[in-house]
Amino acid sequence: MIFTVAIDGPAAAGKGTISRRLADQFGFAYLDTGLLYRAVGAKVADGVEPAKAAETLRAADLTRDDLRSHIAGQAASKVAVIPEVRRALVQFQRDFARQSGGAVLDGRDIGTVICPDADLKFFITARPEVRAHRRYLELGGDEAQILNEIIERDSRDMSRADAPLRAADDAVVIDTSDLGIEAAVAEAAVHVTARLGG
Ligand code: DC
Repeated sequence: MIFTVAIDGPAAAGKGTISRRLADQFGFAYLDTGLLYRAVGAKVADGVEPAKAAETLRAADLTRDDLRSHIAGQAASKVAVIPEVRRALVQFQRDFARQSGGAVLDGRDIGTVICPDADLKFFITARPEVRAHRRYLELGGDEAQILNEIIERDSRDMSRADAPLRAADDAVVIDTSDLGIEAAVAEAAVHVTARLGG
């Protein structure tokens, strides 16, 4: 069975948690596509040219332990505006999406560009202040600065010319600002079950 769930949304809206939980519940494979851009950003910080970093990306690059930081997120957002970088990562994501047994991919352009024919699309969002507070609880740091970085990153991700962050017209929008994670996962799971045919 090929069944693709595309999950997009801004940083710290809850897409990673919802994606992982859906993948567990329904036995689908899961790809955090942000990690691809974070790994490219990290290689660029090490001196590799951006397109080259994307073209030569290997599974081992995704296991670096410095990819979850705020700095890695900003570096990812910066290399993600480069069309050659995005192009080099398309086929890997599409192949992952079409593997047998079902797949969940989360990112910024999954429902709009990578998998426009996905069986189900979600757009997970939340107010910037709520997202900044979640990142602060997760990673520590200065909450006001995190909020500024989130706003800056959203703005760069939404305004880039190539594959900007936006909800696909046919995406189910879930705002997690005032919704616990259990409720958000349950809401998403109802749609998956319905789409799978009961
Ligand atoms: O989801 P994340 O915070 O790990 O993503 C880091 C950055 O990577 C994000 O700010 C923009 C970029 N990205 C992208 O452009 N397209 C994707 N599908 C996933 C991430």
